[in-house]
Amino acid sequence: MKMKTMIETLKKATRELHEQVEQENLARFIMDYSIDEATYKLLLLQNYVAYKTTEEEIARHLPFYEGKKHQELAKDLEQLNVPVSLHSFEGDFRCQTRPQAYGAAYVVEGSALGGMVLARNVTRCEKLSHINSHHFFNGDQNNITAWKKFKEELSLQEFSEEEKEQATQMAKATFRYFRKVFQTGFSVAAVK
Ligand code: HEM
Repeated sequence: MKMKTMIETLKKATRELHEQVEQENLARFIMDYSIDEATYKLLLLQNYVAYKTTEEEIARHLPFYEGKKHQELAKDLEQLNVPVSLHSFEGDFRCQTRPQAYGAAYVVEGSALGGMVLARNVTRCEKLSHINSHHFFNGDQNNITAWKKFKEELSLQEFSEEEKEQATQMAKATFRYFRKVFQTGFSVAAVK
């Protein structure tokens, strides 16, 4: 029997968590085009907190890693006058080992796939039609290129059974972390 690749293992282990996040998070209102500006702002801020904390932590362990999604989110927030803040989540996300960082990066980079669908839909949301540019939901093909490169990089790694388990557990923990941040109602009051 052929051994499962690391990607296959991670995908299978997180399938249910992905479904939960997909069903619960505010992006579902982009999927049905009903989102309004206040909800969009909260969605952007939740994503900013989740990506900034995870991308910086992953980069501490993986030198090649350039997590830049939080920078695009910061641009969106600035454009809408929402103060950029990590609120209570500063330092809340931690990886201890390289395999753990790979597991977390799988989640953060793989999210680009859903991001492409959301980018297409966001331009069709009537209540956001006054927003000229979406930086995070940009639909740029580079997001997919980065995901493919990451998968290649991951496939070159040799992990022991113990390390595979570490990566898998961290991928699950990363989904749970995103879920927790997505359940938080931050203030999105505009700066005067
Ligand atoms: C409403 C929100 C979301 C939608 C509509 C969505 C949709 C999708 C779609 C269509 C795929 C491609 C599935 C495939 O080709 O097999 C995908 C893959 C993925 N998504 Fe999401 N997604 C959402 C949110 C998220 C979030 C918030 C995360 C992470 C925090 C995430 C992480 C992933 C990962 C890791 C994969 C890659 C699975 C793999 O091929 O190994 N997604 N998503």
